[in-house]
Amino acid sequence: RAVQDAHPEGRQVQVVAHRGASEDVPEHTLAAYRKAIEEGADALECDVRLTADGALVCVHDWRVNRTSNGRGAVSSLELADLAALDFGSWKGQYADPETPERFDPGERSQVLTLQRLLELVVETDRRVELAIETKHPTRWAGQVEERLIDLLRRFDLDRPPHGEPSRVRVMSFSSRSLRRVRMAAPALPTVYLMQYVTPRHRDGRLPAGVGIAGPSMRIVRTNPGYVDRLHRAGHRVHVWTVDEPADVELCVRLGVDAVITNRPRKVLAQLGR
Ligand code: G3P
Ligand code: CA
Repeated sequence: RAVQDAHPEGRQVQVVAHRGASEDVPEHTLAAYRKAIEEGADALECDVRLTADGALVCVHDWRVNRTSNGRGAVSSLELADLAALDFGSWKGQYADPETPERFDPGERSQVLTLQRLLELVVETDRRVELAIETKHPTRWAGQVEERLIDLLRRFDLDRPPHGEPSRVRVMSFSSRSLRRVRMAAPALPTVYLMQYVTPRHRDGRLPAGVGIAGPSMRIVRTNPGYVDRLHRAGHRVHVWTVDEPADVELCVRLGVDAVITNRPRKVLAQLGR
């Protein structure tokens, strides 16, 4: 019996590739997202930051030191500076055991812009969703969200197509950032990320207007009843980061709606897909 069958409502849990197939391939590179799509991920997760000249790039940390051969804050570098860096080799040996020729150890990779990632999503010949996380939006006083919505609008992704669910959603730990997104694009679903449960959200109710809850796996492990509380309050539940088989099993048993994982292939296999 596949783990998926344990879902209380019999629904399929969405598998979201966290920073791409980032266990095998350097996070936030085009190669990582292509691999996640090939592996069958239902959706992709990415973090976005603004460069000094206002481009949205997919980088998790506030500076580039960990994931590139450069140094410095993303916000103080221009897109051309970032484009000259190598965001691939830092991970060293990362060959895919089944198709080792596809990912050379130490492959160079350019910084990924959100625009390029959106192109990948729309050029893929099956439906792939995208969960975009705004990082440190307060520093830019609304510019991250403004540019994000402008870009989504150019791709016609700022609202769901008629009669279909949205392909894009915006996530943040900041309720203010999500509010800005909804002001500019009211039909875009938003996900409120939570590291811990604060007293204000203990009953499962989230900031007004937020549809989807994004609790950490730590919350779900230590407080499994919270998933039910979120569901009862009318929220869907997307959990991060779900890599361990026991965590996948727990999430399915609790009836979560999506798991965000660095290992899409392994999680899909565990789910029997
Ligand atoms: O998907 C949500 C998760 O990515 C939030 O944490 O630090 O990995 O961005 P972080
Ligand atoms: Ca993230």
